[in-house]
Amino acid sequence: MRRYTRSNPFAVLFGILALASVAFAGPNSVMTIQPPLGLPPVPVPEDNPMTAAKVELGKMLYFDKRLSGDGTVSCATCHEPKTGWTERRATSKGIKAQVGGRNAPSVINSAYHTSQFWDGRAKSLEEQALGPIENPIEMGAKLEDVVAKLAKVPDYVRRFKDVFGTEVTKEGIAKAIAAFERTVISGNSAYDRHEAGYEGVMTPSQLRGMELFMNEAQCATCHTPPLFTSGRFYNAGVGAKTKKPDEGRKDVTKKDRDLGKFRVPSLREVAHTGPYFHDGSVDSLSKAVQIMAGGGIDNSNLSSMLKIVREAKLTKTNIKDLIAFMEALSGSYPIMEAPELP
Ligand code: HEC
Ligand code: HEC
Repeated sequence: MRRYTRSNPFAVLFGILALASVAFAGPNSVMTIQPPLGLPPVPVPEDNPMTAAKVELGKMLYFDKRLSGDGTVSCATCHEPKTGWTERRATSKGIKAQVGGRNAPSVINSAYHTSQFWDGRAKSLEEQALGPIENPIEMGAKLEDVVAKLAKVPDYVRRFKDVFGTEVTKEGIAKAIAAFERTVISGNSAYDRHEAGYEGVMTPSQLRGMELFMNEAQCATCHTPPLFTSGRFYNAGVGAKTKKPDEGRKDVTKKDRDLGKFRVPSLREVAHTGPYFHDGSVDSLSKAVQIMAGGGIDNSNLSSMLKIVREAKLTKTNIKDLIAFMEALSGSYPIMEAPELP
């Protein structure tokens, strides 16, 4: 993202114009999110319409450490806007420095996911939002306690009344945070501009990488444009050789055939969201691409599609081009400071 905009002043202007722009009449009237170049309309559930006042409340809650048991952790601790809405750690550290087993995915474009979490155990952002608050090693709080804490803050009480017409509720907390997350989107990448017909926006190596990605290397079968994920679950073998491998999707469905499967991660902004994979075991993008281009890591349930990737026998130059293409998927996403909290 930065490299491109620095080299071309027109791209800066274009980027600003094409950033998700938001149009609204008043703080409580329904607003529409104009998706950036290359992305479809943002899906919004009927029972949680977007309003400016709700998004503002959601932003405060997202940054507020009152949502954790001991007041030390907020959503932004693990999904920090300045580091690609994720964190620069393999696996997350929650309250009392407890370390979980999974890498924090980026919140960018989570509005489009058909399920949330690496194993897809939450259906919507609303359902997802309350999970980390009660997770003993993430925020480690009781929802009733969080609701009671916020109900003592007059500004929150006024805002919940204004936005939802109720006192502070856990449903309201979830809805406001989800509405805020729906404004965190990234499109308008070099790839999107190329697709829109602009010339000279991708390097020759990126163009070769794109060609491989879409065809011979089979990447697009799982990392399907425009979001660069099909939303489906596959076993790529990452972590399969560790002592106690994460069962992934099997935890949710209890079916053996789902052993070691994880939701295909979106590759938008992937250059800014490392470390990679569900366990954060790989710290560089080039290593992650090398593993995938080699057809994943052998194990009893490896996806048959990855065996096909392996048969493509991609060369070192092919892999370099694929890595270059990954960088063409960086666009513009919002970067912000924590708001002033009540
Ligand atoms: C201690 C670190 C930590 C905190 C605090 C935290 N998260 Fe997460 N978040 C994670 C991890 C780790 C995962 C992946 C867990 C999994 O897949 O099982 C995740 C997953 C998610 C996802 C799913 C993204 C996807 O691609 O599936 C969203 C959205 C999200 N978190 C938002 C939030 C919100 C909102 C909050 C605050 C209420 C929050 N997180 C607090 C670490 C954290
Ligand atoms: C069979 C489906 C499938 C195919 C084909 C596939 N991937 Fe993936 N990819 C996945 C899954 C699933 C993961 C997550 C694995 C995990 O974390 O355990 C992943 C992870 C990645 C990651 C890490 C992203 C992150 O945020 O952690 C990159 C980069 C990647 N793939 C690139 C590629 C490239 C390049 C190709 C083509 C050579 C490719 N993939 C082919 C399913 C696939």
